[in-house]
Amino acid sequence: MAEQFMEAKDLRKSFDGAVAVDGVSFDIAKQEIFGLLGPNGAGKTTTIRMLSTVLPPDAGDVTIGGHSVTQHPGDVRKLIGVCPQELALYPELSAIENLMFFGRMAGLNSGDAKARAAENLRLVGLEDRAKDAVSKFSGGMKRRVNLAIGLMSHPALLFLDEPTVGIDPQSRNHIFETVLRLRDEGMSVLYTTHYMEEADRLCNRLAIMDHGRIIASGSPGELKAQMGDPNTTSLEEVFLNLTGRSLRD
Ligand SMILES: Nc1ncnc2c1ncn2[C@@H]1O[C@H](COP(=O)(O)OP(=O)(O)OP(=O)(O)O)[C@@H](O)[C@H]1O
Ligand SMILES: [Mg+2]
Repeated sequence: MAEQFMEAKDLRKSFDGAVAVDGVSFDIAKQEIFGLLGPNGAGKTTTIRMLSTVLPPDAGDVTIGGHSVTQHPGDVRKLIGVCPQELALYPELSAIENLMFFGRMAGLNSGDAKARAAENLRLVGLEDRAKDAVSKFSGGMKRRVNLAIGLMSHPALLFLDEPTVGIDPQSRNHIFETVLRLRDEGMSVLYTTHYMEEADRLCNRLAIMDHGRIIASGSPGELKAQMGDPNTTSLEEVFLNLTGRSLRD
């Protein structure tokens, strides 16, 4: 069995008595892209925020690289990179200035931050736009900057929360190719999306979440085989079959 890099056990979180995450357990192996799929409000972002030390769980724990998220969050932060669903970029700064700022925040000295910023802009295909203010970028280009920022710490595990929402096919393909390349170079990735066909293409394994719980998990092929012929069944049909409703409203 593949070596687990992240293990989440029975994570729970409520907000003012409303349950957002209701006992979630899963693991991610080294060099694996793991998908967390589910409709709006399923609890994907809340789960990521607990895994990435941003939000303390009400119950349960997570270990990343052997370190507990609740007991040793500082050790965990050295191993992870986060690309949040809500973009947090400085619009008046250039792309390279944004990356260097976040690199410095991650503890790099200015020379290393500059070198890595240039390297990451190349990786996401924005080296020609390095000196342009981010306010002039399209939505897809901003998403690519967001990805480049998440990579500034050279993370072993990258959290990508809906990296392809509302972007053009060219940026989407660029993000796919970058994520696959990073996985091939050894990174583990947690990827959330509403788009079942993206998960089918990218993920080694995935979990389908609904109402704060994981209702199915496995490789895309395994999930489809539970329903019928994996060659003709889609993950969208799996979700419909499990919940009685369509993933996208
Ligand atoms: N800070 C918060 N305060 C109160 N309720 C919250 C908070 N964050 C999330 N919730 C609630 O928790 C539930 C899960 O939200 P979450 O953002 O984790 O879902 P999601 O699966 O990421 O959805 P989306 O696909 O829309 O991003 C929702 O009902 C949401 O309203
Ligand atoms: Mg979300």
